[in-house]
Amino acid sequence: MRIGILGAGNMAGALGAKWVEAGHDVLIGARSAPRAEELAKRIGARAGGFAEAAEHGDAVLAAVGHTATAEVVVPVAGLLVGKALLDCSNPIVPGPDGLMLTTDGGPSAARTLADAAPGAHVVKAFHLGAAELWAGPHGRGVAVPLCGDDPAALAVAHTLVAAVGAVPLSVGGLDRAGYLEATAAIVIGMWFAGQDPRTMLPAAEHAHG
Ligand SMILES: NC(=O)c1ccc[n+]([C@@H]2O[C@H](COP(=O)([O-])OP(=O)(O)OC[C@H]3O[C@@H](n4cnc5c(N)ncnc54)[C@H](OP(=O)(O)O)[C@@H]3O)[C@@H](O)[C@H]2O)c1
Repeated sequence: MRIGILGAGNMAGALGAKWVEAGHDVLIGARSAPRAEELAKRIGARAGGFAEAAEHGDAVLAAVGHTATAEVVVPVAGLLVGKALLDCSNPIVPGPDGLMLTTDGGPSAARTLADAAPGAHVVKAFHLGAAELWAGPHGRGVAVPLCGDDPAALAVAHTLVAAVGAVPLSVGGLDRAGYLEATAAIVIGMWFAGQDPRTMLPAAEHAHG
């Protein structure tokens, strides 16, 4: 598959490297040509700007900071029409009582991205795991919850999750992406606090006692 990545940071490097390893054709797009070229060289991808990445991808990963996603995507929105647009952003910041959603009371980050790129098929994906998880061996077998409305885009997301050795798990439409973003605020906050979120959950067969 041809994959365009918007951004040349941690998530772009981690997921891009795994997708290249899996045989996909990846183009890293960034505002800084040297950063895009350095990352692309390191992982065996090609480099360009945001427009080249958006044009290249049958699927496109938005991997710029969550405050920049819409601003980066609007100028290339026309190139994203009909494509799967993966949103891994975490709209969370430290607050007085733990991590907080910057989107509280408003649209989810995934919805804002969808509004910025009309005609693209946004899928929330990969936001719960750290870049280091996807870069290393411990992401294998981890479930990646996905929210999206378009069956074909969800199928693309399933392929890209499987390509990093993880397990795709569709959990609803894009309207539910805000719940996934809120889940990240709790789960990542627990990891930062040295707590293990997995201990909250019984095996599925024991969920009802
Ligand atoms: N890191 C993680 O463990 C992790 C885990 C899950 C989800 N996420 C999410 O993944 C996304 C990317 O995170 P990251 O850790 O990969 O970030 P990062 O390492 O800081 O990289 C961000 C990339 O976005 C670019 N960028 C930032 N602001 C921009 C702007 N206004 N205009 C154009 N380009 C801009 C940066 O370009 P420059 O280098 O030119 O500044 C860089 O290429 C975020 O939404 C984050 O919430 C991260």
